[in-house]
Amino acid sequence: MITENNGRFLIETDHTSYLFYVDPAGFLTHLYYGEKLFLTEDGIDAMIPVISNQNGCSIIADQKESTVSLDDWCQEASSRGRGDLGQPMIELVYADGSRSSDFRFESFRIERIKEQPDGLPGAYKEEEQEGSSLVIVLRDQKSRTVLELVYSVFEECDCITRFARVRNEGEEPVRILRLMSTQLDVRTDGQQKILSFSGEWAREMEPVETILSASRFTVESGGGTSSNKANPFIIFGETELSETYGQCYGFNLLYSGNHQETLEIGGHGRARFLSGIHPEFLEITLQPLESFCSPEAVQTFSDGGYQQISLHMHAFVREHIVRGYWKKKERPILINSWEAMYFDVREKKVLKLAKEAAKAGIELFVLDDGWFGNRYDDNRALGDWFVNEEKLKGGLKYLVDEVNKLGMKFGIWFEPEMISPDSDLYRAHPDYAIAIPGREPSLCRNQYVLDLTRKEVRDYAYECVAKILRSANIEYVKWDMNRQLSDIGSLELPADQMGELYHRYVLAVYEMQERMMTEFPHLLLENCSGGGARFDPGMLYYSPQIWCSDDTDAIERLKIQEGTALIYPLSTMGAHVSDCPNHTVGRVTPFETRGYVALAGTFGYELDVTKIPESDREQIPAQVAMYHKYNDLVREGDYYRIASYAENHYFDCYGVVSKNKKEALYTYVQVLNRPNYHSRRIYLKGLAAEKYYAIEGEDGTWSGEQLMNAGLLVQNPFGDFKGKLIHLTEV
Ligand code: DGJ
Repeated sequence: MITENNGRFLIETDHTSYLFYVDPAGFLTHLYYGEKLFLTEDGIDAMIPVISNQNGCSIIADQKESTVSLDDWCQEASSRGRGDLGQPMIELVYADGSRSSDFRFESFRIERIKEQPDGLPGAYKEEEQEGSSLVIVLRDQKSRTVLELVYSVFEECDCITRFARVRNEGEEPVRILRLMSTQLDVRTDGQQKILSFSGEWAREMEPVETILSASRFTVESGGGTSSNKANPFIIFGETELSETYGQCYGFNLLYSGNHQETLEIGGHGRARFLSGIHPEFLEITLQPLESFCSPEAVQTFSDGGYQQISLHMHAFVREHIVRGYWKKKERPILINSWEAMYFDVREKKVLKLAKEAAKAGIELFVLDDGWFGNRYDDNRALGDWFVNEEKLKGGLKYLVDEVNKLGMKFGIWFEPEMISPDSDLYRAHPDYAIAIPGREPSLCRNQYVLDLTRKEVRDYAYECVAKILRSANIEYVKWDMNRQLSDIGSLELPADQMGELYHRYVLAVYEMQERMMTEFPHLLLENCSGGGARFDPGMLYYSPQIWCSDDTDAIERLKIQEGTALIYPLSTMGAHVSDCPNHTVGRVTPFETRGYVALAGTFGYELDVTKIPESDREQIPAQVAMYHKYNDLVREGDYYRIASYAENHYFDCYGVVSKNKKEALYTYVQVLNRPNYHSRRIYLKGLAAEKYYAIEGEDGTWSGEQLMNAGLLVQNPFGDFKGKLIHLTEV
């Protein structure tokens, strides 16, 4: 709930309070964000910092009203020009060339309906509720530029969202150099620990811990997507921070393009966090009466280390980001043709594979790349979205009907944002590609990016996909995107608007996916970007699941899925059992372990079921049953990390516990065996201390208290890469 009293604004979730006030000069001053406080009026006033009058040579923003130096002040929205030398949340260039803004409080409103960012994905609430959103209106003292700060509260998951809107109410244009989505200024003793995520193709979501003192730390992407190099998610807090210890803040951005997150610690110990669209990749000029809105950012607080941040963020994504028909539903177990046939797609092979898969209990057949145009390899044909009837004799409808007759659903792959230079589409419309006239655009995977910012191109690309979907009973789409943007140029944008292209591109993708979900509301959409290069809450607003990585090796996946699940719920993570030796790393792991690891995601297969060893194939029906038995728990339960192979180099363990704590499932994978080492003690997490549990397959009962504090002894299996499930139910 959000309340206001005498210029003091209080945002409260179930377990946190966020407090700021309007100081006498009209600056919005941040007072507190942390554990929930029961605050009296006097208590709030006592939190307002006292100015020491010893500002040395600091610049004083408004000598008439106070002696505040903004350079040392915790603010809600900083700008350049009046003495704050930290990075600003907003930076504008006015018609006279000046860059100095002076935003002061003008008014506010508190709304029952959650305020949405204009034209962008926004967290939603199922119902109206008193005190859902707060809009603070600030006005620059000289120009007539208005800055609106929008806060919304999601009580039960302890999350607060923010976005910002700038409106030019003056008569001259105003250029935006930066408009970040959120800012958090907090007092520190000069050091903070940061957890961020970096990576590359097939190595997504690698956690990186950094200790920062009196300098600036930046995470950013500049290739037009949120990227596998730097997820917009970040945690920072006290230096002792660990999985279960420490006060910290977690942030994410509902945006799928270039982003930047910075944490800057100044000389006075003020830590300033900013997150939003990467300012170096956005230039927008607002003409009179025009406005621009930032994407929405989400933040949460934990007084118990990373674990609580994950729990809050999972609940937030599950309840307030993922939408539509599949939001709460068990997803069909799929088999994807990619690692089974790559580009060598033939209807006979497809049907043979589908038949064998259906026999094993697999429910959805997904035809990946290679089914269209002249697509015999990745050198050609993107954009030619018509069925290659040489490969698929009888056409797509025939194939879909045949698969349906087997009792399976049918799904298909597209890469709608791309165009190959060797395609009919490019030959007819070379101008459809993003490029700078007179410069040869750079290739990546032998393809260019379509200029979806042009309506004509966007409509064309959408219609290509929709036509195929209308032509047969297709119930699933994998929407892939295999390159980053470069050589930024568009035929239609005038030179002075070219700096908007990256952002317009993201808006275009959102528009296409919204159109698709409106026209095909029951379609199951899985986003993908050469694996997980666009795994962010913006994409999850359109698709309930995203393919985590092209690396399907069970052991690599332990790391990738652990990184991903630090932020995103298991229900959103595409995970499949694939064949061995693994196509990416050549490792051989037991089929059983591959199944356990894929169970921590949407679950499916990525192999030629007609060719794998009989002993593997025979295990599929039991894995199918395992998925159905546990999927409610995996999808909806609370996720706990227990041991990380990435850290200890020997074994991995994590669990999911039902909300009512009556059931739990822990996955244990021994990555490398150790000689002369008899058993490991695993301290289970998330159980109710006072409840008693039975462990499936074992005699006896254990108290939750014992399992969490004294642990459970797990005997070492003989060999590497061996896994087991530990299933607990309350007795
Ligand atoms: C990249 C994806 O991540 C893969 O799963 C597969 O769909 C290929 N693209 C197809 O080109």
